[in-house]
Amino acid sequence: MGATSNEVIRVGIIGVGRGMSFAHGCKHVGMELVALCDIWEERLLAAGEQLGVATYTDYEEFLGHDMDAVILANYFHQHAPFAIKALDRGFHVMSETMACKTMGEGVALCEAVEHSGRIYMFAENYPFSVANQELRRLYQAGEIGEVRYAEGEYNHPGEEQWRLSISPGFNHWRNWLPPTYYCSHALAPLMCITDRMPVSVNALSIIEEATQTPRNTKVSDVGSVILARMDNGAVFRIWGLMMSSISRVRYELHGERGLIATAEPNHWANVRIFHEPWLLREGQQQDVTYAPDWPAHGDLAEAAGHGGGDFWTNFHFANAIRDGQQPYLNVYRGTAMAAVGIQGWRSCLEEGRPMPVPDFSDPAARAPYRDDHWSPFPEDAGPGQPPPSLRGIIPPAPEVAERAREYWASLGYHE
Ligand SMILES: NC(=O)c1ccc[n+]([C@@H]2O[C@H](COP(=O)([O-])OP(=O)(O)OC[C@H]3O[C@@H](n4cnc5c(N)ncnc54)[C@H](O)[C@@H]3O)[C@@H](O)[C@H]2O)c1
Repeated sequence: MGATSNEVIRVGIIGVGRGMSFAHGCKHVGMELVALCDIWEERLLAAGEQLGVATYTDYEEFLGHDMDAVILANYFHQHAPFAIKALDRGFHVMSETMACKTMGEGVALCEAVEHSGRIYMFAENYPFSVANQELRRLYQAGEIGEVRYAEGEYNHPGEEQWRLSISPGFNHWRNWLPPTYYCSHALAPLMCITDRMPVSVNALSIIEEATQTPRNTKVSDVGSVILARMDNGAVFRIWGLMMSSISRVRYELHGERGLIATAEPNHWANVRIFHEPWLLREGQQQDVTYAPDWPAHGDLAEAAGHGGGDFWTNFHFANAIRDGQQPYLNVYRGTAMAAVGIQGWRSCLEEGRPMPVPDFSDPAARAPYRDDHWSPFPEDAGPGQPPPSLRGIIPPAPEVAERAREYWASLGYHE
């Protein structure tokens, strides 16, 4: 198992929605797609035919396919058990966000990676836009000194039909997702630029409407603001989800000697550096905005989705397998980002009380969370489990539910 530098890495993908992006991109980094898995058979067969690879509706059977690595693009909150199964069977794993839906799953996932000795990569793509890679270069070169405060924003608003098309089924995770759980697009770039890790969070949830009359199938809240205390004492503010936004993604880092940020008109591509005049050092410009070049592979990155990030996640996963070294976005960073979302929701439900974020790389620090199965998702409902909204659980209004059912049926999805 594994691949030397010249060997093709044979990969299988579970989930043919988002998974198709990995499927199309993996050939650019020496990976060969050999199998697909999905429970939505119609879509699976269409994808399998288009790509000319084996198809499976059953994950266990899929894991019996002769391959080296598995990419997880199944439901957002179901990655950890699928990752653990694949690692236990000797496969390298790259997992979409989120790495784990509970703190207990986070502990189990770290242990599975450690025991397996296989590569685990958390597939966060937002750190790899050309702007965010340039911010990392600047920060690591000392442009602003040590970070003291940073902001990350990710917002993806959309009209009803789009929302329904990406969340088929009343129990689909997107309809239940507490807003803090999708924090990694806003948080990961800040962590990657600065190498800092979260140690605690305070968060507040933003409710969609004050009335009790739901206009759509989403029972969870529309956005959140998380304040994370980092391991160097800095404060990172992470906000967004489905709120109106001009920039959609935006990152800004304030250090001891100035600030660096993504910039208008395109926050994937433009960077701004600003220094107070009295903090300028020799060779620095006081206020400059520019479009940086890619560090490498610009042509492939430009052709990939999410500001080029979709090329770089495949690239780093393949390199990690070839080098036999865990990637930068390893299981500990993946579980830390999940923990910010989970502990952030705990904080929201207590109107901002601080909650700790353990260092998952430390067995003693993570041990208290081993049996923590606190989950807002509908399949885990029961005593002691939290709601997905500050307002509790308000089911969709009958006319909303009927519209949704009709639309999902037109997509070929039936409850
Ligand atoms: N990084 C990004 O930019 C980005 C963008 C979009 C989606 N995502 C992530 O990708 C994942 C998938 O999202 P999506 O947009 O494709 O929507 P989705 O979650 O609705 O799709 C998941 C797919 O997995 C399949 N699936 C679910 N359970 C399965 C099982 N047990 N066995 C086999 N197949 C199963 C579903 O049928 C579906 O086709 C999520 O984690 C999401 O957060 C990431």
